[in-house]
Amino acid sequence: MKKLNVAIIGCGAIGSTHAQHYSKSPYGKLTAFVDIIPERARSFAEQYGGEAYEDYRKMLKDPSIDAVSVCLPNVLHAPVTIAALKAGKHVLCEKPIAISATQAESMSAAAKAAGKTLAIGVVNRYNSNVNWIRDMIAAGDLGEVYHVHTQFRAHRSIPGLGGWFTTKEKSGGGVMVDWGVHFIDLIMYCLGVPQPLSVSGVAHARLGAKPRDYAYTNMWAGPPNYKGVCDVEEAVSGLVRTSGPSIAFEGAWAQNIGEGAMLIDFLGEKAGIRLTYGGSFTVYSHKDGRLYKTEPSMRAESMFQVEIDSFLQSAASGKPCASDIDAVIPTQKVLDAFYRSAKAGREVKI
Ligand SMILES: NC(=O)c1ccc[n+]([C@@H]2O[C@H](COP(=O)([O-])OP(=O)(O)OC[C@H]3O[C@@H](n4cnc5c(N)ncnc54)[C@H](O)[C@@H]3O)[C@@H](O)[C@H]2O)c1
Repeated sequence: MKKLNVAIIGCGAIGSTHAQHYSKSPYGKLTAFVDIIPERARSFAEQYGGEAYEDYRKMLKDPSIDAVSVCLPNVLHAPVTIAALKAGKHVLCEKPIAISATQAESMSAAAKAAGKTLAIGVVNRYNSNVNWIRDMIAAGDLGEVYHVHTQFRAHRSIPGLGGWFTTKEKSGGGVMVDWGVHFIDLIMYCLGVPQPLSVSGVAHARLGAKPRDYAYTNMWAGPPNYKGVCDVEEAVSGLVRTSGPSIAFEGAWAQNIGEGAMLIDFLGEKAGIRLTYGGSFTVYSHKDGRLYKTEPSMRAESMFQVEIDSFLQSAASGKPCASDIDAVIPTQKVLDAFYRSAKAGREVKI
């Protein structure tokens, strides 16, 4: 397979992760880097070789570039992805797809019109343990899975208070958009993407709402910008009804409880699985009046490497990858419905 020429748009935290894994991929070659902060693009270009740009539209005019990674604040995902597809590039766009399902559907339509691959950075779909669980559920090892419960809660983890993560018009939302998307998408993927039917959710913006009163020890994507905005939720709770199992979630970027939790419990009639997010899992089962607890393990590959390689292989072959946009749109619909429900104060249909 010919190596595809790749550009990174947005040379921040996740742009750096993408660049590292493209540089190790046998299927691609980094050739361009874009950031509105010119020194960021220049520093990537010096490290990996290639051209630095300030304006993504200028880069998109280069016909030698085959594929781009969109690693920008969420509000820019839809416009930049659509511009790249129209310019004839394959796109790997970071999660969430966009800030609404309507935008997500326009992105999917643009990919079809251009005949290009559009993958989304829901990277857990490329995690070996997640795929193992998905296969076990599909094989019926858990019996009928009737409910999934997840927690993505931290004591203090609001990112870059006052920056784009906490500004709704740039991020589309808080912890639900930033962490919830990964957990809901992982669950939907493992369940074979049931149809989401309704969501009942609550969103709380308490601890970040008065930025100067927010006590913390360290801050990722920080430091705080007290002149900036924090108008997104930092804690959420909700229930999703689907055509398959129900899904309950509790999430918090910040809470006044010291213990956090990052886990997913799949409850089946024959067995249940607790997955530690980003880690291993335990299977709880019963047979002949006895209870069993199993902790399987395997050598795992880097999920980011599998994601990047799968995207490039999909772009070259035209075959959809596991994170093809159409497979992820139901997750975006859950996010949209969550915010509608939280605003309306009642369960809403999808
Ligand atoms: N898959 C994951 O696990 C994961 C992890 C982190 C972030 N993300 C997602 O990646 C995206 C970026 O997050 P991040 O943490 O890297 O943010 P970041 O703020 O570190 O990086 C964003 C970069 O985009 C640049 N930028 C902003 N506007 C631009 C424009 N118009 N043109 C060119 N460059 C522009 C900024 O200068 C910055 O360097 C978000 O959508 C986030 O949700 C995904």
